[in-house]
Amino acid sequence: MAVIQLTDLQLQNKRVLIRTDLNVPLDGTKITNDRRIRATLPTIELALDRGAGVLVVSHLGRPKTGVDNAHLSLQPVADCLRVLLKRPVELIKEWHSGLDVNAGEVKLLENIRFHSGETKNDPELARSLASLCDVYVNDAFGTAHRAHASTHGIVKYATESCAGMLLAAEIEALEQALANPKRPLVAVLGGSKISGKLEVLHNLKSLADKLLVGGGMANTLLLATGVNVGNSLVEKELINDAKAILEAAEIPLPVDVMTSESIDAESHAFLRLTDCIPSHEAIVDVGPETARQYAKTIAEAGTVIWNGPMGIFEIQQFAEGTRQVANAIANTNAYTLAGGGDTIAAIEQFDISHRLDYISTGGGAFLEFIEGKQLPGIEVLQRDS
Ligand code: 3PG
Repeated sequence: MAVIQLTDLQLQNKRVLIRTDLNVPLDGTKITNDRRIRATLPTIELALDRGAGVLVVSHLGRPKTGVDNAHLSLQPVADCLRVLLKRPVELIKEWHSGLDVNAGEVKLLENIRFHSGETKNDPELARSLASLCDVYVNDAFGTAHRAHASTHGIVKYATESCAGMLLAAEIEALEQALANPKRPLVAVLGGSKISGKLEVLHNLKSLADKLLVGGGMANTLLLATGVNVGNSLVEKELINDAKAILEAAEIPLPVDVMTSESIDAESHAFLRLTDCIPSHEAIVDVGPETARQYAKTIAEAGTVIWNGPMGIFEIQQFAEGTRQVANAIANTNAYTLAGGGDTIAAIEQFDISHRLDYISTGGGAFLEFIEGKQLPGIEVLQRDS
């Protein structure tokens, strides 16, 4: 996918507006994970090193109309950026009447979703944002699946537009894994629901050589084969979709599972063969034999794409299947790519982030990319050649 990159452009004394995804988790005003902020630093630093003045734009959360959204201010992000960049970062609340930024300066615009035109891709907002800069940079991979004023509409009005270092790296990593993978390509899919993953399964069933499934989504697939899954979380309305996927692709389903009578930190986990699940128990993890088989397949892979945990890994006694699979992904010689909020939480819990080749900053954007969709924020930057 050919997109113009920041490294292709002349930036000396230019005003560069960088759309980032600094939608970070907050506990009050405390940032609990700054991964997304750190991931976009190379783009900001490159623009500064090349003599630009930088305006940073991001959303935070989903502000609602008619209520006080003060808790979604980007002030904590401005404070964090100031520390990481080791230079002042002013939070700008009002910029409609114009905004100067000099070479070497960094200013952060207040949460762009405080403007209702952002999510409506309002041309007026897009035009106002474009008027603030000479070069528009999209570095917000996590928001590339949204056609919003600051991710999509702005390109029509900006003098020059390009992809930042993070966006370019995400595209390259995903294309390496999907378009030109070293085979066999193994996709490991989990997470609580199959509903959000149907399109992913549809796309990967023809791209991947092996699909390994766990988590709540495997429950619906098991149910579709006639297995009694007891009290497990299932989406009965998707049984026909699950059957269609199983007919179209060879998916090895878990042979054993861990179950529990209730989902809480005090509950005991029982090992059950998949065809012997008592009706009052729910599946909470894949079993050790399934995890062993999955680990063997991962060890023999050329490429591994991972999205979704194998069970309720946040509870210690239900975490072992996800831990085994995570360790197998960390230890394989394959090219390894992971993405999605729960997956990143599992990677951090098992402390394997340094052993994966690429961890995407995208949640929904990562899923839509592996569904094979064109992401509007990337599509709009594409050049013809
Ligand atoms: C995300 O966290 O996935 C992105 O920041 C996009 O957020 P959104 O789903 O609110 O558009």
